[in-house]
This record gives sequence, C-alpha cells and structure tokens, in this order.
Amino acid sequence: MISVGIIGGTGYTGKYLLEFIKQHEMIAGYTIYANKSAGSKLLDVFPELLGVIEDKTIQSVNNLSYTHDLYFVSLPHGESLKYIPTLLDKGIKVIDLGGDFRLDTKELYNEWYGFEHTSEKLLSEKVYGLVDIKNNKIENSNFISNPGCYPTSIQLALIPIIKKYSDNIISISSVSYSGASGAGKSAKTELLLAELDGNVKAYNINKHRHQPEIEQELTKVGMNSPFAFTTHLLPIARGIYSTSTIHLNSVIHEDEIKEFYLKEYANSKFVRIRNIPPELKWVVNTNFCDINISAKNKTVVITSTIDNLIKGASGQAIQNMNKMFGWDETLGIIK
Ligand SMILES: NC(=O)c1ccc[n+]([C@@H]2O[C@H](COP(=O)([O-])OP(=O)(O)OC[C@H]3O[C@@H](n4cnc5c(N)ncnc54)[C@H](OP(=O)(O)O)[C@@H]3O)[C@@H](O)[C@H]2O)c1
Repeated sequence: MISVGIIGGTGYTGKYLLEFIKQHEMIAGYTIYANKSAGSKLLDVFPELLGVIEDKTIQSVNNLSYTHDLYFVSLPHGESLKYIPTLLDKGIKVIDLGGDFRLDTKELYNEWYGFEHTSEKLLSEKVYGLVDIKNNKIENSNFISNPGCYPTSIQLALIPIIKKYSDNIISISSVSYSGASGAGKSAKTELLLAELDGNVKAYNINKHRHQPEIEQELTKVGMNSPFAFTTHLLPIARGIYSTSTIHLNSVIHEDEIKEFYLKEYANSKFVRIRNIPPELKWVVNTNFCDINISAKNKTVVITSTIDNLIKGASGQAIQNMNKMFGWDETLGIIK
C-alpha cells in the first residue's frame, strides 16, 4: 500500500485523480494541495463527490509534506518546475500531468512555453509516459512526464503506421477537435457558454504547444515526413477527436495496416481498434482510446478519440502509476 499527494488536486484533472485513487485498492491515503482553494474543504470544491470521498481540508502548495510515496503534479505550466526537483531530490516518485517536462530540450521548451526552463537535467531524465506503447522504462522510473491530451490521441493513432511504413509516407496532417475542459477551470471569455454555443473555430494554428511534443515523439519512432497539426474548439465540455491523413508513395492495403495495429495493441487494454470511425461519446468518461484505420489508394485516414481529462490526463497518469509500482495497469481504472 502507498499514500499519494495531488498537487493541484482541485482542478479538472485533479478531480479525476481523486476519484481514481479513492477506488484504488493499493492507495491507503492522500493529501490534496492547491493554491487559492487552500484552507477550504474538498467537498466545498467538489460537492458532487459527497459520499464518494471523505471530506478533508485542502493544503497549501507552500506546505508540502514530502511524506507521500508518490506525488501527482497537476499544475499550470511553469508551476511544476517549482516543486518537482525538490520532490525527486528527496527520493519521492513523481508523475507530472503538465507540460513542463515533456519536451527533451531546454531550447524547445523556452521557444514554445515562452520562459526559461530551470531544471534542464530532468528533461533528459524523465520518462515520457505514453503508457499504451510498450516502454520498459516506465516500470523502473521515479519520474514520469504524462503526455498531453492531443498528443495522446494522435500518437496512439500514428505510432504503428510510422513504425512500420515510415519510408512510404509522404506527409501527415492531423486535425483535432477538443471540448472546453482542455483549458482547465480558470475563467476565460472565449470559453463562456455564450461564446462556445453553436460555434466551432480553429485556434493556435502553427503555435500549439503540443505540436513540438508530437513531432519530437513521432520522430523517435521514425517519422521523416512533414507533419501538420491543427486544433479546433468544440462547443462541448469533454473529449478530443483527431483525424490524421497520411499520404503514401505506394498503396498499402487497409487490411494489412489494420492487422498490424491489432498486433501492436494486442496487450493494450485501453486501446480499441474499431471497424468504423469511432464516436466521441463512446469514450467520454472512460480511459479508452478508440481508433479506426481507413485506406484507399495512396491515402490512409486514421480517426482516434479520447476523453481529454481521463485518457488524456488522469486515467493515463493512474495507468502510469500502476506500471511504476508493478501493479495490474487497470487497477483503480476499471472496477
Ligand atoms: N484539462 C485537460 O484536459 C488537461 C489534459 C492533459 C493535461 N493537462 C495539464 O494538467 C495540468 C492541470 O490542468 P487542469 O485542467 O486540471 O487545470 P485547472 O483546472 O486549471 O487546475 C489547476 C490546479 O492548479 C492549482 N494552481 C493554479 N495556479 C497555481 C499556482 N500558481 N500555484 C499552485 N497551484 C496552482 C489550482 O489550485 P486552486 O484551485 O486552489 O487555484 C488547481 O488545483 C495543466 O498543466 C494542464 O496543461 C490538462
């Protein structure tokens, strides 16, 4: 049995971490740390969890206890940098749900996140936890950087085809749609219901922070073609839908690609290969990533969908924790 701390446990992703650890048979206790809500009661922040969690006082991030075996860090970017190096120095395990350690170099981080990274060494020491892709490093890691939500949906869709057919790929274009919870709970005018309702728009074209993360990781599995990434905001609260179009030099039969995906994900309990394009509502409130592959002539279209707060954040973080500690990876996630 272990105990955990959730730093930033009062946010959107924090709420689901809390729900998962409450139903996890290997977690004996937890503390929630936050900023403005420190001193408040958990059930005042999450009244919907009455009867699900016991009420506790939220602690301040300025008074970290360092007494837990593992800390989930679920803070806005830039903030994780203040706490993670000390936790690791004290020999405590960390899973970071934010973007501060996902990129491999300080230069990339400075360029895309807009300020100086202060723990360069940890950028190369972290393990990038895209947990449904086999990676033995997760089991022995003290520090996991949990992938971003868009990167999870796109990488799970693209890694197999890139691994097997990279030399046949001319270009890849991924177009993604997200609900408003992807931006966290802080108030923003563009996320008001009156702005979102009945509307769809592209945003952050050519400057979304997830683009270098996706390119970095796809390059590691062999991508050597141009990659484009465009994000859109949907008038819904939850979920991500990504459509990736791959142009090939020569035809590959759809059955051949699909067979390879089924083999690659044979042991991945949370990736489901579908015969038809998946629907967002099949995965909302679950840790599944649903994927469909459709190929015609020299074009392959891969659709993938996840819940941004679960598979794209808290569910994947719990799966990473389970692997880190050598437990069944579904513990706490599937009842
Ligand atoms: N939302 C998603 O779909 C999603 C998916 C994948 C990854 N992520 C990443 O996960 C992290 C958390 O996202 P979220 O959506 O849960 O955010 P959120 O809803 O905005 O919650 C942020 C949390 O951080 C705390 N916090 C805010 N500013 C702080 C500061 N200056 N010092 C200490 N604590 C502070 C807040 O505490 P108070 O409530 O007390 O202010 C709250 O607990 C972000 O890095 C985000 O990029 C989010």
